[in-house]
Amino acid sequence: MIRAGVIGHPIGHSLSPRIHNQWFEDVGIEGEYQAIDAAPEAFEATVHEMADEGWAGLNVTIPHKASALELATERSAAAEIVGAANLLTFRDSDIIADNSDVFGFEMSLDEIGVSKSPRHAVVLGAGGAAGAVLYALRSAEKLTLLNRTRERAEALASRFGNIEVRDWDERDAVVAEAPDLLVNTTSLGMAGQPPLELTFGDEAPAAAVDIVYGKEPTPFLRMAERAGIEKRTDGLPMLVFQAAPSFEAWTSCFPDAGRTLSELREEL
Ligand code: ATR
Repeated sequence: MIRAGVIGHPIGHSLSPRIHNQWFEDVGIEGEYQAIDAAPEAFEATVHEMADEGWAGLNVTIPHKASALELATERSAAAEIVGAANLLTFRDSDIIADNSDVFGFEMSLDEIGVSKSPRHAVVLGAGGAAGAVLYALRSAEKLTLLNRTRERAEALASRFGNIEVRDWDERDAVVAEAPDLLVNTTSLGMAGQPPLELTFGDEAPAAAVDIVYGKEPTPFLRMAERAGIEKRTDGLPMLVFQAAPSFEAWTSCFPDAGRTLSELREEL
């Protein structure tokens, strides 16, 4: 019996149990995947408890991704550079940290036929989700980062080394440079948040990704559609594909994530 889960705070809305429990059934492995709510002060003790109880590992979500990296005994290069881990695997007495959000984002580019080594990619936002996106795009010829709080963009960019930081107020001008890819990692446009204010000029970006997902297209993606950007996606592929390396780490089976993505599109 393989036991795994996702740990976060709050955790109520997570689709991860739906995804992983179906994969256990698909591959015929007896397993159980649960959502675990742990406040920051309880995070470390809860992780050690699961490891001691023989769990295979945990996915980690807001607000614990940096703490997950800290407590690990081994870290992948991606997790180390991003400064966050969303995947912990328990092996013997080791806790191995990885960042499968990177793979999730790479696969979401793949879904819309966009290279992860574009000529110019522009990333909006330097919060929790931006690091994995920047790491996935690290071989872009040019990578530009804009965040309302510029210092935060500079701090994140310094982890990578080849990123141009521009002022938040310059975003219309940067987008008018017609990058190959524009990614929104800010929380703007999420339920209860103001929309992202952005104007596309005559030369729109060639592709647009919003890492948020929902039943309806996000305001950012509606704007991209109006600008005629055909290569666009929300964050659902990233969510589904980040789960696949986790499942593989714990079961040695790579799941049919593409099918799950199609099913979730219907269910949402
Ligand atoms: P946190 O800030 O707690 O890390 P997050 O969801 O990981 O939360 O990140 C939110 C992102 O949306 C950040 O890039 C944030 O910009 P700041 O770093 O300046 O806070 C961005 N964001 C949130 N509200 C915004 C707004 N009204 N205008 C512009 N950017 C905003």
